[in-house]
Amino acid sequence: MTAALLELADVNAYYGQSHVLHGVSLTVREGEVVSLLGRNGAGKTTTILTIMGYLNPAPGHIRFRGEEVGGARPHRLAKMGFGFVPQERGIFPSLTVRENLTTFARAGGWTLDRIFSIFPRLAERQGNWGGQLSGGEQQMLAIARALLLNPSLLLLDEPSEGLAPMIVREILGVLADLRREGLAILLVEQNLRAALDLADRHHVLSKGQIVFTGTSSELEGNESVLKDYLSV
Ligand SMILES: Nc1ncnc2c1ncn2[C@@H]1O[C@H](COP(=O)(O)OP(=O)(O)O)[C@@H](O)[C@H]1O
Ligand SMILES: [Mg+2]
Repeated sequence: MTAALLELADVNAYYGQSHVLHGVSLTVREGEVVSLLGRNGAGKTTTILTIMGYLNPAPGHIRFRGEEVGGARPHRLAKMGFGFVPQERGIFPSLTVRENLTTFARAGGWTLDRIFSIFPRLAERQGNWGGQLSGGEQQMLAIARALLLNPSLLLLDEPSEGLAPMIVREILGVLADLRREGLAILLVEQNLRAALDLADRHHVLSKGQIVFTGTSSELEGNESVLKDYLSV
């Protein structure tokens, strides 16, 4: 078995005095799509923010290709190969779509032309301000910007949240294409059907602890996890 691309071992996280993650362990292997599921407030975003270096390091290990990266700052992680699509998207409203895309790009297989071919709407809107985009366009822009970092691991926090069904289908279609190309993805998703279809393995969080890890068929067959932690 190959070493995990990303490994969290016994990770804790705090907001001030409030202890939110209690020993979270999870892995994402090369070429694997892994979901992180759980109800609102379970700690999904906190887990992603901890990985991405936005929260202060607390006891636990975060390893990328075997190297300890716990406590590394976001810009260093981006250089190492992390692409991050935050829950609030983080579009710069007073940069154009094109500037949002090119300001942080790193050389590699993902180019502006290739981005415009998978997201034609961004090509049409490239001269508009980031702040003029619809929610769906902002989400496409956030994903596109992360891809232009040419990451080896893409982390997405609820990419389909609050979007119209047609846009959700378009975004999930792009993620399925990325999976086929072998990009490793850690996906936080409220849409269980989408997560089951897209991800190879799933981690379920409840109150800051992992309560289930398994494949799509194992999760679909586990009625108590579905009912107790995912309200299905
Ligand atoms: N900035 C913050 N300060 C204090 N508590 C927070 C903050 N952000 C989130 N929390 C708390 O941490 C817990 C986990 O939140 P979060 O990781 O956002 O959950 P999820 O993404 O699964 O909905 C919740 O109890 C939430 O209220
Ligand atoms: Mg969240």
